[in-house]
Amino acid sequence: MTEPTSYRDVPHVPVLLAEVLAALAPLQGARILDGTFGAGGYSEALLEAGANVVAIDRDPRVLPHVERLGARYPDRFQFVPGTFSELDALADGAVDGVVLDIGVSSMQLDEAERGFSFMQDGPLDMRMSADGETAADLVNNLPEAELANLIYAFGEERKSRRIAHVLVAARAEAPITTTAQLARLIEKAIGRKPGDSHPATRSFQALRIAVNGELDQLVEGLFASERLLTEGGRLAVVTFHSIEDRIVKRFFAPEKAEPVQSRHLPMTVREAASWGDVQKAVKAGEAELRRNPRARSATLRSAIRSAVPARAVNYQGLGVPEPGRA
Ligand SMILES: C[S@@+](CC[C@H](N)C(=O)[O-])C[C@H]1O[C@@H](n2cnc3c(N)ncnc32)[C@H](O)[C@@H]1O
Repeated sequence: MTEPTSYRDVPHVPVLLAEVLAALAPLQGARILDGTFGAGGYSEALLEAGANVVAIDRDPRVLPHVERLGARYPDRFQFVPGTFSELDALADGAVDGVVLDIGVSSMQLDEAERGFSFMQDGPLDMRMSADGETAADLVNNLPEAELANLIYAFGEERKSRRIAHVLVAARAEAPITTTAQLARLIEKAIGRKPGDSHPATRSFQALRIAVNGELDQLVEGLFASERLLTEGGRLAVVTFHSIEDRIVKRFFAPEKAEPVQSRHLPMTVREAASWGDVQKAVKAGEAELRRNPRARSATLRSAIRSAVPARAVNYQGLGVPEPGRA
């Protein structure tokens, strides 16, 4: 096999692939829903392992990869465009497992014109689907306090007020329209220390989460998986930052987060668990990190669906940040 000549020749290297397959096994003849198809890395490995796959993605640009797998596995692979918040409605029948690989794909990050990255200049867009508000809309139109709260809540950026102040002053002169312009303004606002990650990292994360409603998607997708999977069904979720990982952890084990208190009983009432066999967080090993540095921030969590009826969607106790309260 020839080595790729540059990173762009590799569309997306699937993260924690062996661990995800192990979490979803047994796979032979199983029907698995891949809620974040991307370049099809997980779907392809699942198909190779003998599973039937129904895949979802909100990004129309994944279609070449859909066609590639569709041609190879015409009977066992199906693609449905849409968001994974509705995966139970889109699944078209029962499944044995669900996998979610949350976040941006390498293709999205590497294509400057998508506006996800401050490493390359592009329009300030950040939309995974082709519709809705762009990052430029938020940066240029939100009142200063709301912009600061958003960057604080979704980026965990302590210097959010200083950043929002500089952005609002800059946009009074001319609209902020490119990723490089935004990155420069953020650097101007909070400075840059040698050895630290780029000062715009947290703000870019915050805007991306807001533009794509990523935390709502995650919460809705987790509860949709709970509705779709029946006893013994498996759910594996890979996340890339601490806010998302906390949500998944608390979703699987709510009793460890905020126990439900009853007004009528002196003791704490625990709901019967919707998930069993909840696995400890799995991180990439040294060998994978050498091959794929983007795996560094990935965390896999998985569990098996119990027989307990699905819960209603409930954000309480999941630790979902609310910009309004920052
Ligand atoms: C990290 S990539 C997945 C990569 C994939 N596992 C692979 O091996 O090629 C995430 C993908 O999920 C998609 N995505 C993100 N949020 C989504 C959502 N709420 N609904 C559907 N697709 C989503 C993105 O468009 C992107 O293509």
